[in-house]
Amino acid sequence: MRALIVGGTGFVGRALAPALARAGHEVRVGTRAARSGAVVGGTLVRCDLDDEDSVRGALDGVELAYFLVHGLRRADFSSWETATAARFAHAARAAGVRRVVYLGGLEPAGGRSAHLESRLATGRALASTGLEVVELRAPVVIGAGGESWRLARDLAVRAPALLAPPWLAARQQPVALADVVAALVAAPRLPPGAHALIGPEEMSAREILRRTAVLAGHELRFLPVPAFSRRLAGRLAPLLTRAHVDVARALATGLGLDVVATQPGVFAHLPELPRTSFDQAVALALHEDRVAAAPALYEALLRVLLPARRTG
Ligand SMILES: NC(=O)c1ccc[n+]([C@@H]2O[C@H](COP(=O)([O-])OP(=O)(O)OC[C@H]3O[C@@H](n4cnc5c(N)ncnc54)[C@H](OP(=O)(O)O)[C@@H]3O)[C@@H](O)[C@H]2O)c1
Repeated sequence: MRALIVGGTGFVGRALAPALARAGHEVRVGTRAARSGAVVGGTLVRCDLDDEDSVRGALDGVELAYFLVHGLRRADFSSWETATAARFAHAARAAGVRRVVYLGGLEPAGGRSAHLESRLATGRALASTGLEVVELRAPVVIGAGGESWRLARDLAVRAPALLAPPWLAARQQPVALADVVAALVAAPRLPPGAHALIGPEEMSAREILRRTAVLAGHELRFLPVPAFSRRLAGRLAPLLTRAHVDVARALATGLGLDVVATQPGVFAHLPELPRTSFDQAVALALHEDRVAAAPALYEALLRVLLPARRTG
């Protein structure tokens, strides 16, 4: 089947393209950039949700579309996400797409998150034209290159101690990138509608940070404080992380909310799908982060030692 990944150059899209190709699909990797040519797993096509002509072109002959775009780097992300999702759904329907698979977020409890509310509204907007939509609702995805993972990792390993307000007990079910990719590939076999896509363990945000620090070989202390607003945590988090500042702020503000699946998940329909343990997922992500960081350090060292390379 011809498949289009909208947002195909992102963290999830880059991992999904080769997996879809291995499953026998002809893969188009959507990007806003005016580049073209082959990338791992597929062919780059211009697909900018703010440019309807590019979306129409990218959708030509496509039967299966993956929607992997968020607007967290924009100030107006809520209104932008729902408006672009609705426009995309109209275009996909007109192009004869048989199914859209959307990777969104879970519904939070005990507080509000503008980011997660917008992810849910995006799912409704995609389904609003009657198009067949499978919405996979995922928590933090653990994998090298992911912004949520980058935030969790940096909070866990970059400071000797963290303030621990009561809301750090909020529960989550982080999921491995490999399991998300396997579920996305299998999504054409799921019934339309929303399905939770969660990791095998439920744990507190504090436990996520503690176990990540242990696996990274870092000694992390928690300093209990009776009160500390989630909003302030969101404002301070960008100081500790290399994640994009707006993304870090939105994600850190959501860290203190219970985000636990309440509806039957993907695994009720497809029990054969892999379920990677939290420790395995974190160990692999830490390893791949180190591998990815190595060439950058090497290049930096070369630039210092061999200044002539700058002009060469
Ligand atoms: N990462 C997580 O932990 C996580 C957790 C739960 C759910 N999700 C969901 O998974 C999906 C993918 O997330 P991700 O982490 O892979 O995001 P990401 O790394 O930020 O990638 C998103 C991609 O979207 C593309 N994009 C941005 N604006 C666009 C526009 N106007 N038109 C077309 N493409 C545009 C960008 O590609 P170009 O720059 O090449 O255009 C970017 O590479 C999102 O729906 C997200 O909500 C992610």
